Formats: sequence, structure tokens, C-alpha cells
Amino acid sequence: MQNRVHIGNLKDHIGSDVVVAGWVHVRRDHGKLIFIDLRDETGKIQIVFNPKVSEGAHTTAESLRSEWVVSVTGIVKERPDNLINKEEPNGALELAANGIEIVNEAKTPPFDVTEDTSGVGEEARLKYRYIDLRSERMQRNMRKRSEVVMYIRNFLVAKSFTEIETPILTKSTPEGARDFLVPSRLQQGKFYALPQSPQQYKQLLIASGFEKYFQIPRCFRDEDPRADRAYGEFTQLDIEMAFVEQEDILKLTEELFTTMVESVFPEKRITKKPWPRLTHKEAIAQHQTDKPDLRANTSDPNELAFAWTLDFPLFAEQTKEDFFHGSGKATFAPSHHMFTAPHPDDIPLLDTDPMNVRGLQHDMVLNGYEVGGGSIRIHDPNIQTKIFELIGFTEEQKKEFRHMLEAFTYGVPPHGGIAPGIDRLLMVILGEPNLREVIAFPATSGGQAAVMDAPSEVAKEQLTELGIEIKEKKE
Ligand code: AMO
Repeated sequence: MQNRVHIGNLKDHIGSDVVVAGWVHVRRDHGKLIFIDLRDETGKIQIVFNPKVSEGAHTTAESLRSEWVVSVTGIVKERPDNLINKEEPNGALELAANGIEIVNEAKTPPFDVTEDTSGVGEEARLKYRYIDLRSERMQRNMRKRSEVVMYIRNFLVAKSFTEIETPILTKSTPEGARDFLVPSRLQQGKFYALPQSPQQYKQLLIASGFEKYFQIPRCFRDEDPRADRAYGEFTQLDIEMAFVEQEDILKLTEELFTTMVESVFPEKRITKKPWPRLTHKEAIAQHQTDKPDLRANTSDPNELAFAWTLDFPLFAEQTKEDFFHGSGKATFAPSHHMFTAPHPDDIPLLDTDPMNVRGLQHDMVLNGYEVGGGSIRIHDPNIQTKIFELIGFTEEQKKEFRHMLEAFTYGVPPHGGIAPGIDRLLMVILGEPNLREVIAFPATSGGQAAVMDAPSEVAKEQLTELGIEIKEKKE
């Protein structure tokens, strides 16, 4: 739109005739004068329609309703002292309208976006997410998310990391959840799995000679949702480095997130720097959890208590509920994932007392949430094979991962990494009770992509092409 001035910049145009455009936030009739607050993505401005200034604009303004899209021309004026609203960034200004054009009318919105929408029912909020996202809190959350991601990219690129994308149509990379499967048309009867994380690819990239890799990938896991566990998909910051020890990973992560908070959330205060470190044993003994909340004052919304939990047991007891790719016969399940290296001092225990082997795993904890996890990886094919055996892999299952074992025979350096969850991290920093408050278009708790109404049935021809026949529908 030619000559349009963003509402957030109006203070630089006092006395000028300008064009603004946006959504009608609220409208107030005061006898002869009509006021509207107009909203664009940079802010709000009060606009006054006076019939003495423009009869036509005033008549049009009479018909305006909430959320109509309009463009208005007028003169930017300073308000008299007694009418200044100190709560609003543009509270000392108003626009005296001399023209208006209705760009797009709007039906009455299903809920009021001028108020915080957290009290509105989930169904309506997600079905009409594009309206929900107009609210001030959701706008702030999405913009903060963008700033965080940009900070991370800049930080890592400045430290010589290379951002590399890895496939979405791939093979299972188990992280303890069910896979999402995608049927192949070219090879009927075969399926891709969507990655639960880029774990195997990032290790293969280390074998490819990229010593500092990162990516901000979508991960797919078919598991029951919780407030801090998204259904279906979520975003990680995935990092992997060659020739590192655990200390290098902890230092880098700590510097990244400490400076990110200081830069993007200056109002927040980190309880302790450097971040406290607890062994798994200490955490359980002192706090009865491996993700302790170390805030001094849990009711302070601006306090952030980061911590590390280290020295996890490499294995957990394999339970029936563990949806895991093992044969189901073994006693041991990896407590993190099967590529985590055992502590070098504990390697002999792999043969004698596996449950007492410590893993070189690190969990990043914030205010009582696990916001990231990672480890030093196994790069010795013999140890990897031993782990596969301990977790009960059949020969068939071992074959599924033979590319990893093979890659490790072609010269791979010691390596390790971490993957903080972007959604969960933002949820905690922004003090939101649910991941859905920091994701633009999250699935409902029932797994529905609400605006698009997915999953949905597909045409019979599509199924035929894939060689798929639906036998019976589960209601
Ligand atoms: P892990 O499975 O621990 O590790 O995941 C790392 C981080 O990702 C976030 N996360 C989730 N966030 C939202 N919804 C979910 N369903 C969800 N699941 C996980 C959490 C978690 O701490 N490949 C390894 C990392 C590595 O070893 O480098 C991995 O994915 O914040």
C-alpha cells in the first residue's frame, strides 16, 4: 500500500497527513464524534472521525464493526495533556481522520481478540486460530519465538556452525515414541517413517566431515499429548559437534541460552550462573526428580533457574509400556537413546552389571522442566553392537541400523550434541501453561489439525495408487 505508515511509527509523523491501515480493534460512538482504535502488527492508534472534518468519512465510520479491515487518511496530532493514556505506546497521539476506505468487511468474530484469549475454549481457539493469533499475547508469543530462533541462528553461525537440512521422508529414528508412517507409491507395500529427531543423520554428518552442525528441525512423534508434550510434531534446536567432550557441549549450550535470555528477555533473571550441575543420583536424593525446580521464588514470573542433570543410568528397565523397537524380550531399554555412550569408567560393567552403567548424557532443565537432552555418542562399532544386544535387538532389527555401524567403520571422530526443545523452552520462559500457546497452529489434544481439519479421508483413487485398502474403520 503506497505511503502507508505503520502505526508504531506514527510518533515520527506528528503534524503530517498520513495513511494507516489495519483492523478495527474497537469502536466507540460519542455523540457526534466516532472513535476507533485501529490495530496493525506494530501497534494501535486512536482515530477520531469528526463530521466537521469529513462528513463522508464520519458516515462510513458509523458502519464500522470489530475486525473490519480499513485504511484511513488523517493528520497525526498530539493529544491534550488530560487525554493522554500512559498505558498505551501511542497514548499521547491520535489521528484526525479525513478519509476512510473499507478494504474488507468481517463477520462478528467467534470470540473477542481485544482481550486475552486464554479463557476461551480450546475448540474455538484452534478452529479459528487465525483469529486467535491476532490477540496481543499470541502476537507477542509468536514474535518472541521468531526472535529466539534468529538469536540462536546468529549465535551458532558466528561460532562456525553449518546449518544442514536432513530428510523428513526417512526411516525410523526411534526416540521412544511411535513412528508416523508414510506409504510409498513407487514401492507399494513399503513405508517411510517421519523422523522422531534427526539423531542418526546428525551423527552421519559428523562422519561426513562437518564438525559443527545445527538445524532447527521438526520432529514427529506419535505419543499421547500432555501440557508440555505436543501431539504429532514439535521443533528442536539440533546440535552435533566432533572432537568434543561433554564439558564443551555444556559450555556452548550454557553460553547460548544465557546470552539469548539476556538479549531477548532482558526482564528475566537467571537464578544461578554458571548453571548448577547435579548428578542423577543427587537430583533424585535431594529433589525426588531428575528435573528439579531450582528457583528461589517459584511465584516470580521473571525468574529462570537453568540446571544440568548428569550421569544418568545408561539403561532403564524395559517395561511392557515402553513402545520400543526391541524384541520385547530384553530387560534393558536405553534411558535416553541407544546411541548414548557409556561412561568410560563403566564400560566393564556392560558385561557384569548393566543397570549400574552411567551414560554420558546431559539433560538441560529449566524451572522443573526438561527442556533439552543430549549426550556423547558411541563411535566404536563394537560398543554400539553390544548396546544393541543388551536392548534385545534381533538380527533383523540390527540390520535396520547397519548403516550406522558401517559409517563408524569409515573414520568417525568422537562426537556429541544436544537438542533443546524450542516449544518447551519458550513455554517455560514465557510462563505459559501449555505448549499450544507458543505454536502457531498446534494440533488439538485429540490430534486434530484444527483449522485444516486433518487427518481426513482421501479419495479412493489415491489409496488404490498406494496399494492400500481400508479394512475397517476405528471409530
Ligand atoms: P529428546 O527425545 O530428549 O532427545 O528430545 C529433546 C528435547 O525435545 C523436546 N521434546 C518435545 N517437545 C515438545 N513435544 C514433544 N512431544 C517433545 N518431545 C521432546 C524436549 C526434549 O528435552 N535426538 C535426541 C537429542 C540428542 O541426543 O542430541 C532427542 O531428540 O524439550
